[in-house]
Amino acid sequence: MNIVVSNVKGGVGKTTTAVYLAACAVERGLGPVLLVDADRQASSAEWLEARPIEGIELAETPSERTVARAMERHDGLVVVDTPPGDERIVRAAIERADAIVIPTRAGGVEYSRVVATVEMVPEKTSYGVVVCAARLGTNDLAQTLAWWESEKVPIWGVVPERVAIASGPEARLSREGVETYGEILRRALRRRSR
Ligand SMILES: Nc1ncnc2c1ncn2[C@@H]1O[C@H](COP(=O)(O)OP(=O)(O)OP(=O)(O)O)[C@@H](O)[C@H]1O
Ligand SMILES: [Mg+2]
Repeated sequence: MNIVVSNVKGGVGKTTTAVYLAACAVERGLGPVLLVDADRQASSAEWLEARPIEGIELAETPSERTVARAMERHDGLVVVDTPPGDERIVRAAIERADAIVIPTRAGGVEYSRVVATVEMVPEKTSYGVVVCAARLGTNDLAQTLAWWESEKVPIWGVVPERVAIASGPEARLSREGVETYGEILRRALRRRSR
């Protein structure tokens, strides 16, 4: 099972989402989980080097060929963190995905980048958006959720803006984050959700 975390836009929460999803999978007994870092910035690799998580193995795959090979090789659950800019690597990962998690932010400027990502998704592959660093109770969030509903894009989760999540590898994973991402993982693992 390959879960790919992708959005062609940068800085939306891909790496945070990939690490939390992998950790949730381990917690659920789905380990060993392979976290594939297809981003040359190596943010998830650096995260796991700074703060290893038992049950998560890491593969750094900065090319189409290496990402394809890593995804095809591992028998268990694979979570792929993708780069923002490199469309060829993103496509190589998306083509091999069973489920695609698309992190985004609240706000209308974000829509077109999600739509561009959704357009890359093969017809039979399930996908859903996750609104990251969301300010609960704001109009901005309500409008964003209403927009995705009107576009018939599945919403797999809303992750609140939290300092404990923003601290990344500098702190342990946030309990609230693990719980919120656990629900998102459940949706991603449910096949044929389209
Ligand atoms: N729930 C959250 N609450 C607060 N901050 C968050 C949350 N999720 C992500 N962030 C912060 O948002 C920033 C971008 O997140 P992240 O690095 O995961 O995005 P990315 O899409 O992987 O970026 P890039 O495109 O550069 O790879 C980081 O500073 C991260 O800590
Ligand atoms: Mg990243």
